[in-house]
Amino acid sequence: MSQSFETASETPRNSETDLRRIHCNPDFWYPVAWSHELKAGKTIGTRYADKPIALIRPETGNVFALEDRCAHRQVPLSKGRVKGQSVQCCYHGWAYGRSGRCIDVPYLGKGKLPNGVRTYPCREQDGMIFIFPGDPERADQVTLPPALARLSDPKYKTRKFGHQIPCHYSFMHENLMDMNHQFMHMKQMGEMRPRFLGQKREPGMVEARYSFARTGGKQPWGEALIFGERRDASDKFADRDVMTVRTEYPYQTLRIQTGDEDPVMDLFIAYTPQDKDQLTNRTFGLLSVKRLKVPGLLEAAWPLLVAFTNRIFAEDREIVTLEQQAWNELGGDHNQEVFPVINTLRALLAECGIKPDENPTAS
Ligand code: FES
Ligand SMILES: [Fe+2]
Repeated sequence: MSQSFETASETPRNSETDLRRIHCNPDFWYPVAWSHELKAGKTIGTRYADKPIALIRPETGNVFALEDRCAHRQVPLSKGRVKGQSVQCCYHGWAYGRSGRCIDVPYLGKGKLPNGVRTYPCREQDGMIFIFPGDPERADQVTLPPALARLSDPKYKTRKFGHQIPCHYSFMHENLMDMNHQFMHMKQMGEMRPRFLGQKREPGMVEARYSFARTGGKQPWGEALIFGERRDASDKFADRDVMTVRTEYPYQTLRIQTGDEDPVMDLFIAYTPQDKDQLTNRTFGLLSVKRLKVPGLLEAAWPLLVAFTNRIFAEDREIVTLEQQAWNELGGDHNQEVFPVINTLRALLAECGIKPDENPTAS
C-alpha cells in the first residue's frame, strides 16, 4: 500500500483494495448492444469484460445471447448465420439453439451431438440489449434498471450516446458525481459555481444534490435549450435548480429539476466493462430533454444540443482517459479525494463490486 492511502484521512476504510482493481459485480443486467445494431435474422458479436458474447435475433421471437465461441474450434458464432431459432457456426455448420445446446452437426448423427456453449439471460428494453453475466439463477430476482431516462414519454426527446472509453468504470462514476469538475467545462459552459446541497446513502445507492450559479461567461445555447430559457448571470437564476446525481449500482442517473415540474433533463448511463482487467468500458447513455413550449423547436435545435453535449462529453472522456493513464503509469490509485460524497461513492463501488481476492479470474 502506498503512503498516500495511509495519510489521507478522508480515504474510506475499504480503500485497502485499489478501487481500480475492483470488478463490476456480474450479478446485474448490463447493456451490451443497442437494439438497432442487431437486425432481424442477424447475429453480432459483443462482450462483457473478458467474455465474448454472440447476440442472435431470429426473424421471429426474442434476442438470445450465447458465448461467442463455437464449442468445436472456438471461432466466433457471431460470424455464423441465423437459422430459425438457432445460430449456425460459419466454419463447419454446427448449430446451437437458445439454450446453447448443440442441436445439429451436419456430418454427424443426431444421437452423437457434442456439448454446446454457455447461454446468458438476455432482455431487451428501451432500445438496449442487456445480458446478465453472473449467476443465471439470480437473473430473475434482479430487475432491469428501474429509472431509465424518459424514452417513451412524449414530453421528452431522447438522444442515445455511447463510446468505448479506456478507463475503469469507477472513473466514470466519480466524474459524473463530482460537479466540482464544472471547472474543466468552463470553455463550454462559462463559469459556474456549484453548491453542494447534500447526499443520501442507501443500500446500493448514493445520491448527490447540487445547485449552480453563473459567475461569469454567457450561457451557452445548448444549456438554454435544456432549460427552455435564456439566462444571464443575475441572482434571479442563481441556485434555482436542483441537479441530482445518483449511482444506483451499477448505473448512474442525473436529473435537473427546476421547480416542482418534471425534470428538464434526465440522464441514464450504464458502463459495461470490455476487457479482462476492466480498464475499458463501453458507455450506454440516454439523455432526455423536456420538449419546449414552442412545438417543434427542440427538434429544430436538436443538432445544436447534440453538438453542445458532444463537446462536454469529449472533455469528460479525455480527462478520465488521462486519469487511467496515470494509474497505469503509477501502478495504482494515488487519488487524494477530499470531497465527502465522492468518498461515499468510492466506498459504495468497492462494497458492491468484486474485489480481486473474490474473483478467481482477476490478475
Ligand atoms: S468451428 Fe464451429 S463448426 Fe467447426
Ligand atoms: Fe463533465
